[in-house]
Formats: sequence, structure tokens, C-alpha cells
Amino acid sequence: MLQPPKFAFLGAGNMAEALVSGILKARLAPPANISATDISTSRLEHFQRTFQVQVGSDNAEETKRADVIILCVKPQVMDMVLLEIKGELSQEQLLISVAAGYPLKRIQQHIGGKVSLVRAMPNTPAVIQEGVTALAGSFGLSTHHLQLAQTIFESVGKVVIVEESLMDAVTGLSGSGPAYVYLVIEALTDGGVQVGLPRAVASVLAAQTVLGAARMVLETGEHPASLKDRVTSPGGTTIAGLQQLEDGRLRATFMKAVEAATNRSRELGQ
Ligand SMILES: NC(=O)c1ccc[n+]([C@@H]2O[C@H](COP(=O)([O-])OP(=O)(O)OC[C@H]3O[C@@H](n4cnc5c(N)ncnc54)[C@H](OP(=O)(O)O)[C@@H]3O)[C@@H](O)[C@H]2O)c1
Repeated sequence: MLQPPKFAFLGAGNMAEALVSGILKARLAPPANISATDISTSRLEHFQRTFQVQVGSDNAEETKRADVIILCVKPQVMDMVLLEIKGELSQEQLLISVAAGYPLKRIQQHIGGKVSLVRAMPNTPAVIQEGVTALAGSFGLSTHHLQLAQTIFESVGKVVIVEESLMDAVTGLSGSGPAYVYLVIEALTDGGVQVGLPRAVASVLAAQTVLGAARMVLETGEHPASLKDRVTSPGGTTIAGLQQLEDGRLRATFMKAVEAATNRSRELGQ
């Protein structure tokens, strides 16, 4: 059987924690094959205590020993970390970056063309293994390395493969999307309170309704419009509610939200 890969997480923050947790739960590698670095000793202690993984503060040292290096630092420290690890990278390794708005080209400029690269854009529900991640590979990335990246991010949710030029659009939809949906859940809850439901009850009804509807779309593969039509009886309650949403231009507003967030992501990346 193939040996599980050795992972190095550079930056032991929230996203690294979600990924380490997912990798361990999916049994992609044992704790002994995972190391994490950070400048904060409390984060390292937390990782050691929670996951029993190896920890260290030397990015170059951990990079040298790993098969897969996952850059989980903030975009503003990426330049510095890449310079630190540059000398330790080899052709067999896979380098994955989750840094938002940090292009593959810029990574290549720092480290030269000698390593397989993947850029990943996960979202926050990865923390509960319900994220969705878009992956874009560097030119010439092997199928083996792309599949490996896919398997890693499938341990924290679903994965889609896109061209890197679409990463800003991904950021505008699924990256910023959880916030849009929290707003929807909050608004539905307030609506429930308005018509007399206790807030705690309204909140469960709203959140589970969003979750259930999302799973119906994913699991039936049906078009959302056809699922909507099936619960909308003539002269009934649902069509009365839908008319209000159309009146409030809900669809156009969501489309504009995705467009605005995409444009902002482009601006920030320049
Ligand atoms: N969280 C998300 O949902 C999400 C979604 C998509 C993409 N991302 C991307 O994922 C990356 C990490 O995000 P995050 O939310 O996990 O951030 P985070 O919680 O702040 O984690 C980053 C960690 O890296 C540490 N660090 C700083 N400089 C370092 C260095 N030179 N070497 C090693 N570690 C260093 C930070 O320590 P200090 O805090 O002490 O500086 C912090 O513990 C970001 O690039 C972000 O764009 C995150």
C-alpha cells in the first residue's frame, strides 16, 4: 500500500485547523505525518494538544521534510514565508496555497518554476467539514498532484476545479456566500418572530429550512426552479410569500451581491 503523504502546514490558524481536523478524520494521514508551524506558541500548543501533530517554528525545516506543503498564512505574510522556504523545495513536492487573492504567478516569481502548485479557495464552513473549495492548478500540474489536492479538500467538504482566472468569481460566490446566507437566516428568523414564534424556535426553523433546501438541490440534482414550483400550489401560502420576494427584487439583489464581491476581490488582488 502507498505510504500516506507527509504534510506541513505553514500557519496554524483557523483554516489549518479545519484542514488538519478533516485530514485526520478522513484518515488521509496519521498525526505523525503532519506538522504545523506558527509564530504563536499558543497556537502550536493548541495543535499539539488537540491533534497530537508535530509542531515547530521553522518554516524551512518543516518544508524540507514534507511531501505536501500547505500555506495557511495570511496573504500579507506570503512573500516572506515563500522566501524562507524557497531553498527547500523540490520537484516531487506539492505546494498548496489557500491565501485569498494571492496568484500562482506571484508564488512562482518567489520560488522559481520548480514545484507543483495549487491555489485553493475554501470557505469557512470547512471548519465543520461542510465547506466548498475551488482549486486551480499551475500549468503542467500532474493528475496525481491535482487528485491529491482534491482528496485533501474533500476532507473538509466539496471541491470544484476551475481556471485560476475564475478565483475572484469563486470568492464573490462561495467565499463571501456564507455571510449572505447568514443574513437570509437572520431575516427569516426575524420574520418568524414577527408572526409570533419564539426566537429560538424561529432560528432552528430558519436554519434547518436553508440546510434542507440546499441538500434537496445537491442530492436530487433538480433545478431549484422546479423544486420551487413543486412546493408552490395555486393560490396558496408559498406563492404569496414569493410574490413579496419578487417585489423586493431578491434575485437581482443576490446577483448584484455576487458581482460586487467579485469586483472587490479583483480590486484587492491588484
Ligand atoms: N478562514 C477562512 O475561512 C479562509 C477562507 C479562504 C481562504 N483563507 C485563507 O487562509 C489563510 C489563513 O487564514 P486563517 O483564517 O486561517 O488565518 P489565521 O487564523 O490568522 O491563521 C494564520 C496563522 O499564521 C500565523 N503566522 C503569521 N506569520 C507566520 C509565519 N511567518 N510563519 C508561520 N505562521 C505565521 C498567524 O499567527 P499570528 O496570528 O500570531 O499572526 C496565524 O496563527 C489566509 O491566507 C486566508 O486568505 C481563509
